[in-house]
This record gives sequence, C-alpha cells and structure tokens, in this order.
Amino acid sequence: MSETSTLCCFIILAAFGFVNGSTNNQKIGFYELKKGDISLNLTNWGASIVSVYLPDKNGKLADVVLGYDSLEEYKTDSTYIGAIVGRVANRIGGAQFNLNGTHYKLVANEGKNMLHGGLRGFSDVVWKVKRHKKDGQAPHIVFTYHSVDGEQGFPGDLVITVSYLLIGNSQLSVIMKARALNKPTPVNLAQHSYWNLGGHNSGDILSNEVHIFGSHITSVDSNLIPTGKIAAVKGTPYDFLKPYIIGSKIKDLPSGYDINYVLDGVSGHDMKRAAVVHEKKSGRVLELFTNALGLQFYTGTFLKDVKGKGGYVYQQHGGLCLETQAFPDSVNHPNFPSTIVSPGKTYKHYMLFKFSTKPSSHH
Ligand SMILES: *[C@@H]1O[C@H](CO)[C@@H](O)[C@H](O)[C@H]1NC(C)=O
Ligand SMILES: *[C@@H]1O[C@H](CO)[C@@H](O)[C@H](O)[C@H]1NC(C)=O
Repeated sequence: MSETSTLCCFIILAAFGFVNGSTNNQKIGFYELKKGDISLNLTNWGASIVSVYLPDKNGKLADVVLGYDSLEEYKTDSTYIGAIVGRVANRIGGAQFNLNGTHYKLVANEGKNMLHGGLRGFSDVVWKVKRHKKDGQAPHIVFTYHSVDGEQGFPGDLVITVSYLLIGNSQLSVIMKARALNKPTPVNLAQHSYWNLGGHNSGDILSNEVHIFGSHITSVDSNLIPTGKIAAVKGTPYDFLKPYIIGSKIKDLPSGYDINYVLDGVSGHDMKRAAVVHEKKSGRVLELFTNALGLQFYTGTFLKDVKGKGGYVYQQHGGLCLETQAFPDSVNHPNFPSTIVSPGKTYKHYMLFKFSTKPSSHH
C-alpha cells in the first residue's frame, strides 16, 4: 500500500472517531494492538503508549519505549511518559497570551511558564475509548477527550481524537485531530513516547545514530522559551542533517537535546520524512514521517531515578523523544506559523512510524 492510500484510509477511519463532547466516566484500562511481529500496549490515561514490541535483526523481540507497570505510576508520572500532551505542547512563555484583544492567563507549571498544557494537561486525564480492534488487517484504537472552556486557562471547548493504527508491514500511524466548538484556541498536540530501540531496559541512547531533516531550530533562552529567532544548525551540535551518533555531539550541550527543529520542506499538508533513528547493536531502525512543521528532539535530560517497567530504573538519556508539533510558544511569536484553531476548522496532525532492521555493517 502506498503511503498516501494508507493515510487516506486512516483519515476516514479517524473521522469516525469524532464525538460530541460528553462527560466521561470511562474506566482506565490497558489495550493491546497486534499485527505480525509488532505489538503495542496502550492506556486511556493520557492516551498513552505503554509498550511497543519490535523484532531486532535476528527476530528477537524487545520493548522499545519507556513506561510503567501500573496505572498508579502513570497517574503520578512527571515525565509525560508515552502520553499525548496538550492542549498546547511544549512551553508557553509567562503562561499567557493575547488573542484577538483578549488576554488569557494560563496555569503555570514550570516556574512562571506553562509546559505541556499545565498542571493537568491531556497527559493527565482519562480519555474515552471510542473504538478498539486488537488484531486483524488494521488493528486500531481511537481515544477521544472533551476539553472544556477555561481548562488550564485555555479558551473554548475542544474535542480531541487520537487514533493509533498498525498498518502495512511494521508501520504505526498516529492521527491527532481537534475541533474547536465555540471559541478560537491555540492547539498543538504531541506524542511523548521515549524511544530506546535497544530496549527500554538497555541503558542510554547515546550510541544511537540519528538523522533529522531540519536545517534550522527555533532558538531558546535559558528557560527553554523560544526567543523568536530561527537559527541554522550547520556547524553546531544541532546538526543532524547527516546521520550522526548522538553521543558524538552531546558533549557540547551540557543538558543534552531539548530543541525544536524546523522541518525542511514541510508544507503543513504533505507527509515528509522528519527523522531516522538507527540502533546498531539490535539493528532496529525507526523512520518518522509527519505533516507537522516542527520536531522537538528531546534526549531525556530530566529523567532521573524513574522506576519503570520490570523495576528497571530510567536515568538521563534513557530514551529519546521525537515530538512532531508546531513551533513552541507560537502564540507569543507573530513570526511563527499560527496555531490558532477556530470553530469550524479541524486541527490535523499525522505521524507515521516505519520500523525495520538493518544487518550490521563492518568497517
Ligand atoms: C499492558 O501494560 C500493563 C502495564 O504495564 C500490563 O499490566 C498489562 O499486562 C499489559 N498488557 C499486555 C497485553 O501486554
Ligand atoms: C477576531 O475577532 C473578529 C471580530 O470579532 C473576528 O471576525 C475574527 O474571526 C476573530 N479572529 C479570530 C482568530 O478569532
């Protein structure tokens, strides 16, 4: 199946996911998707990915995302592990913005700034399971959430649908959609899985080879708030225009990578290649395509003594996040593309992960 046709059938499928907002007394549970060698475990707490099992170059399976064994740990998590973050992912400087003459004060949860939607963002709420098909040709799960007017300070009701689908041969598609019901509002959703292609319990990701198709970054200040400048990566430690080993460049960045790349050649509609990650020991390769304008590359700087699945303790650089999204803090930077979604318009964000393996190469 071509990329376009798989995307189209998924869009149709995801369209069925829309519901009018309703209060949700949904039970929290775990849900499986399985196709061939790939299996996923998800939870409707935060519409999160709990595990992703993939074969290595010898067919041996490993779980390649960080996560927890119990719901309680998801509820007390502070790392956004595996979750959908929003209403506005990333940071909003001063936890405030002006829209059309109205000033909106948001809930600050990182100093005076807002991170990933506030104290109780979309990663910390119970989503409704709209549909779930565990296996077959196109295993999928569709989560929905109705965010109310004023939630964490944001204007208007917003209905969000997030769909995860296993398609083709070893592909995971993620579709995020949102409809504003009554007021224009900023929307920027992101999927916050920490990937470790060597296995979630294999140590750090510093030996991973990464290729990011972004020639520029949105520069940030010391609080990681965008300055509004768009800077070229060439000749800096941010340059992943060719595949590089993360650890070979990270030395120059005391706290690792936590930066938004401006993806090259993305029009906002077409799926473009955003990043490739290759873990040489297992041979596992992840290729990520998206229609989003940006990619926040985060190497787990703030992971410290996080007790994860099977009792394994995640430390700094224990996983990497590939958070496709709009540019951070767009609401406060008129030179960044707008993230405002007005009633009658639908926000659409697609991610396509293609998993494969490569045999070892000998130098
Ligand atoms: C999904 O993950 C939860 C929490 O780690 C676990 O209790 C459950 O057994 C898993 N289910 C499957 C099918 O792997
Ligand atoms: C701003 O307000 C004007 C007048 O009320 C309205 O026509 C316009 O659609 C609004 N723009 C946004 C982005 O809401």
